[in-house]
Amino acid sequence: MRSTIGIDSIGVYVPRLYLDLTDEWARTRAPVLAGGDVQKLVGKVTDGVGVRRMAVVDAHQDCATLAAMAAKRAIDAAGIDPREIDYLAVGTETTVDQSKSTAAYVLGMLEQHYGVRMADVGAPQFQFACIGATYALEAAVSRIRAGDHAKPYALVIASDVSKYPLATAGEYTQGAGAVALLVSENPRLLALEPGLSATITRDERDFFRPNWSATAVVDGKYSIDVYLDTLEAAFHAYAERVEGALGIVASRLYGAIDHFLFHVPFPRMAEYAAARVFLGQWLADAAPGGARSRLLAEVPLAGAGAGAGAGAGAGGSPAGEALQRKEVERLLAKSPIFREAFARKVNPSLALSRDIGNMYSGSLYLALASLFEQAQRPAGAPPAGAFSAGPPLAGQRIAFGSYGSGASAKVFSGSVMADYAKVTSHLRLTEELRPQAEGGTRVPLSMADYERLHALTDAELDYDGAAIDSVMQKLRDGVALAPSEVAAVAALRSAVQSPKWRVRPRGASILAPRAEFALERIGTTSSAERTDTGYRYYAWVP
Ligand code: HMG
Repeated sequence: MRSTIGIDSIGVYVPRLYLDLTDEWARTRAPVLAGGDVQKLVGKVTDGVGVRRMAVVDAHQDCATLAAMAAKRAIDAAGIDPREIDYLAVGTETTVDQSKSTAAYVLGMLEQHYGVRMADVGAPQFQFACIGATYALEAAVSRIRAGDHAKPYALVIASDVSKYPLATAGEYTQGAGAVALLVSENPRLLALEPGLSATITRDERDFFRPNWSATAVVDGKYSIDVYLDTLEAAFHAYAERVEGALGIVASRLYGAIDHFLFHVPFPRMAEYAAARVFLGQWLADAAPGGARSRLLAEVPLAGAGAGAGAGAGAGGSPAGEALQRKEVERLLAKSPIFREAFARKVNPSLALSRDIGNMYSGSLYLALASLFEQAQRPAGAPPAGAFSAGPPLAGQRIAFGSYGSGASAKVFSGSVMADYAKVTSHLRLTEELRPQAEGGTRVPLSMADYERLHALTDAELDYDGAAIDSVMQKLRDGVALAPSEVAAVAALRSAVQSPKWRVRPRGASILAPRAEFALERIGTTSSAERTDTGYRYYAWVP
């Protein structure tokens, strides 16, 4: 008989700094992004996209420190010795090194903090945009299922710092944070259902980050289409596997899933995803009094506009079909049948992302943490209130819709264990996300500080930037150059053609590190005795 394998403990870490999207940012960006209309921009970002605050990393934080913080929280919550872990995998698309695994850096930080040596540990990094950590989770589970593990726990960490160019439509969908999942047999949190996971991959250009760029390149509207199409295909494949393995037919699938968790680049995206997935499932439920008849009573166009993927042909060209489908999904999103379903089966998982933004690989697992935290909060209680003892989620099935641009979607499911409330009672994320002005500890950034942190890079071309700036100004003004300035231009040309890099100081942190892992310095030595230029030194700061 197969043993139960899944998530035993969860740890989440979000940096304390944030940018308020309703205040100075909106006033500064409105001329570029909304024709000067501040209220329109605020409305679009908070209602249309669904975020109001974005988490931002400080100068001493990066994907590795976030990962180590989340790992520490998962380990402490489980109360285990880190030496019981023999597999530590990090899923990230914002790596700190082009070669070394971020997981090895995390391992070093954990060893230093706990004062132990974590021997015989595999520490790979998984990269595939926002779905990397899901592939890491799958590998960790398979490894245990195959009996290849020597110790009881694997640690899977999703960690990222999301960055788009300033003053673009991507800017208000940034964010940062990490989620760590301790994976084991007989888990106390969530048992993952074996043999049901379904994966789709298509070679796509919706979102990517070339090696030379610190920010993502995105075709925004197209990225939404690719997300929805691949996720729908993955749900379809999942439904087939569920029917084959469990005998649950497509028309009964929606009822068999209690919570749908999606990758959340921004909260409205989960709404688009739910509309796409629910529409297909409700149309399949043609029994008298079933979801299909209620759906068609509330959204009469649904039967015609759902497109081939949902099982009802729309006819016409693919572009026309896609347009018709969008219109149907727009109407569906406003219908009572959808609003009720969304409020019950999706919304509790979105509470935290409105105040964090896109965590990239961690956002699906943040949705899980959000669901647990919401379930434990008695209705009407203050955010920091006592946790209820009742287990309203125990035994419920959660379906996960993971997505990574480029593009891949994976759907899998798990059922919540009886002890989940105990194991998640340490989660205090709603409280941690409360700003200082509201009695919390979260610190808002001014635009100047936010833009300084956004511009941070670890290295710069090794040439005299100030000299070049004055030459460029003279060229723009049509002023003749002195011979030394002509030499400066030649130096720049050679620096660009055969680049030599020098480490750039990161500048002061906005909040000095305290009780956290921090990037202490980046190596600059290149000598016969020691070479470490570009190497990152991390430490636990008590
Ligand atoms: P945009 O141009 O800012 O927004 O792009 P829009 O004009 O499409 O409007 C968005 C919504 O706001 C619409 O709602 C508007 O009507 C509404 P809808 O019609 O869809 O229901 N709206 C308003 N609502 C209230 N008051 C107003 C108002 N104005 C408009 N005043 C976009 C949005 C997401 C495309 C952009 O922000 C972007 O490019 N973001 C980055 C890409 C992204 O997040 N893509 C998501 C799918 S791909 C993915 O998830 C993978 C990813 O996480 C990366 C990875 O895998 O690694 C990104």
